[in-house]
Amino acid sequence: MSYNTILIAKKAAIATVTINRPNKLNALNKETIKELHDGIKDLAEDSGIKAIIITGSGEKAFVAGADISEFADFSVKEGKKLAAKGQEILFDFIENLSTPVIAAVNGFALGGGLELAMACHFRIVSDNAKMGLPEVSLGVIPGYGGTQRLPQLIGKGRAMELIMTAGMISAEEAKSYGLVNHITTQEELLPLCNKIAYKICGNSSVAISYAIKSINAGFKNTVNGYEQEIKAFGACFGTDDFTEGTTAFLEKRKAEFPGS
Ligand code: COA
Repeated sequence: MSYNTILIAKKAAIATVTINRPNKLNALNKETIKELHDGIKDLAEDSGIKAIIITGSGEKAFVAGADISEFADFSVKEGKKLAAKGQEILFDFIENLSTPVIAAVNGFALGGGLELAMACHFRIVSDNAKMGLPEVSLGVIPGYGGTQRLPQLIGKGRAMELIMTAGMISAEEAKSYGLVNHITTQEELLPLCNKIAYKICGNSSVAISYAIKSINAGFKNTVNGYEQEIKAFGACFGTDDFTEGTTAFLEKRKAEFPGS
């Protein structure tokens, strides 16, 4: 299968999926989300593939978020659908995959980019990585599971602060928070991910798939949180703040929210 926005390379039992829109810092548009779903589904159905690595093209970004230019004029209904569909076909899909998925975070992982990394089973980052959920600076909230997975990974208080400030954390901070497992240089990022993936490939795929299912089961009591997030994310699309936030980004200026 050939794709426009992603690259897939297979080496023995390990597949590397590269999001390939470097000029847009690998922002996730509708096509990329669909292609990631199709490509990863294909790999999951390939019995020869025992581990998947997801990374971004270029040296600057893993993924700088959902593509803001695509949703800036969405209605409440369209916003809600955007979050629901994305969660279903990509973020929940990856989290619940039987094949282990490692995020190789090679730069900015913002908004949907951090949400994608968090949906992966664990994260390894290069030392230039910067992570955050800046959605409230655009007048919206994370809609691809970010309000649920970030507190699961780093704790409620830290997640509240990171989301409310729309801030970014460094690789070191992310490691100290438990958000990422290892930090390495950009050059060593894929070799390290491959080394760990290779170790995984030596173990029972069936047992690993049951382990993934069991570990995930411990977090399923938050399922209503995801529904709440979809509703609230959709509601943001009906606000003046959202129009101002996304318009300001696309016009390359700082957003001016009432009272800010
Ligand atoms: N959606 C759409 N386009 C995006 C994007 C996104 N999330 N993130 C970056 N881009 C585009 C920029 O518009 C720019 O395109 P252009 O060259 O056609 O103008 C290109 O990618 C390069 O980005 P630029 O902003 O010029 O790079 P920078 O080094 O100055 O800044 C960031 C890097 C990551 C700080 C900045 O791009 C940014 O803030 N991105 C948005 C992050 C965000 O809010 N994500 C959450 C979305 S819900």
